[in-house]
Amino acid sequence: MIDWNEVYRGDEFFYGKEPNEFIKRYCNLILQGGKVLELACGEGRNAVFLAQQGFCVDAIDSSEVAIEKAKSWAKEKGSKVNFINADALSWSPLYHYDGVITTFFHAPLEKRVLLYKKIKELLKPKGIFLGEWFSPLQRLHRFTSGGPPFYEYMPTVEELQNHFQDGEIILLETEERVLQEGPGHRGPASLIHLIWRKR
Ligand SMILES: C[S@@+](CC[C@H](N)C(=O)[O-])C[C@H]1O[C@@H](n2cnc3c(N)ncnc32)[C@H](O)[C@@H]1O
Repeated sequence: MIDWNEVYRGDEFFYGKEPNEFIKRYCNLILQGGKVLELACGEGRNAVFLAQQGFCVDAIDSSEVAIEKAKSWAKEKGSKVNFINADALSWSPLYHYDGVITTFFHAPLEKRVLLYKKIKELLKPKGIFLGEWFSPLQRLHRFTSGGPPFYEYMPTVEELQNHFQDGEIILLETEERVLQEGPGHRGPASLIHLIWRKR
């Protein structure tokens, strides 16, 4: 088990301060100015970016060190984000969202199934989910750009296809890309993307 508080301790931002490329590319699919939730937001790079784009952002992470850093970073940027320190899988929201996003929220299958259920509960009808993970090929290719050491912690295209049949799969793809996301994600990577619309 990774101790995320240890990973984030120190002044450096482990995944950098720039937003994730996939989120940047596709966030315009979410209702402009709508309410967005980021699950497992880390140090806040995506949440701060989305707030700057005019979204109303809630962002949740179980690491208190990450949330404290995210709050300071948002303040420094003059961005208003509601950061929440909690377990994303058991947290009960006050709202439903126009968009839910997550990047690199890796977990074993039983937790991923909870995550998929949670995403569907959190979204309003017609709401958009954007998700990026490392694909199991990350380990097969022995890429060292990040991700958990076990491929069992990474979803496959088939798994996402099966769990998201009850809505519109707008995009489901794998992509190889060179990551430059702080010291944490650096180098060639095999990624998996899902864009899904709730009915
Ligand atoms: C690989 S990091 C990605 C952080 C961020 N999404 C990014 O791309 O910069 C995974 C994050 O998941 C968070 N996390 C793991 N399990 C969680 C849970 N059950 N609820 C909320 N956050 C969780 C960790 O604290 C960590 O910040």
